[in-house]
Amino acid sequence: MSFPPLPAQASAHAHDIDFVLGLEHWGMLALFVFFFGYFVYALVRFRRGAHPKADYTGMKSRWSVYVVLAIALAEGVLLVAYEMPAWRERVNGMPSPDEATVVRVVAEQFAWNVHYPGPDGRFGRTDVKLVAAENPLGLDRTDEAARDDVTAINQLTLPVNHPVLIHLTSKDVIHSFTIYEMRVKQDALPGADTPVWFVPTVTTAEMRQRLGKPDFEYEIACSQLCGLGHFRMRGFATIVTDGEYQAYLAAEARATVR
Ligand code: CUA
Repeated sequence: MSFPPLPAQASAHAHDIDFVLGLEHWGMLALFVFFFGYFVYALVRFRRGAHPKADYTGMKSRWSVYVVLAIALAEGVLLVAYEMPAWRERVNGMPSPDEATVVRVVAEQFAWNVHYPGPDGRFGRTDVKLVAAENPLGLDRTDEAARDDVTAINQLTLPVNHPVLIHLTSKDVIHSFTIYEMRVKQDALPGADTPVWFVPTVTTAEMRQRLGKPDFEYEIACSQLCGLGHFRMRGFATIVTDGEYQAYLAAEARATVR
């Protein structure tokens, strides 16, 4: 049984994250039921009608202490045996740039700028002085490495079943890059380059079929209240096959005006 209810899984590590989330939520549910049950029991058992005069000695048994210790122990096991290994895998499993699709994502109020290095695999030089309405990344097209670079706004196209390594940053305030189906959420900080990685395992087309929703898209949401336009900071991650990905990059490269 899936508890808590979560969006469909579409990345290699999604199952591990959901497993830990499941343990935590079942644990919280058990605590809630237990303590709420005890609360109701105490209301009835120690009602005024049955105890017109208070008992000033109180409880002598130590069971409540043992219960709290048992809960603390269970939470310790959860942390050490499940949560820390899941996190370690996210941090240590980072793919090397050679084996991954490397993309830059630069957040701004209120859009996601996407920057591909192009066939040469090198990101062109960017400069804040060049930032303009038609060049939101400040890409220097005179730079040799920038000639084949592809840029997009609110559209991240990625190949399925390959590790994706995103260099995430922000131009203004703190945003948070989130794709729920990929179980990815990372704050984008101005002045910092934060790596985000995942392996998409289900193409957009497959997911549409699976969910029975022909217009389904993986959404890039912003999970930090970043200003008045926060609600419309919405991008799309389109997961495609290798062939479609190469075709996309080639078409975008041709369309880029130099
Ligand atoms: Cu960017 Cu909210």
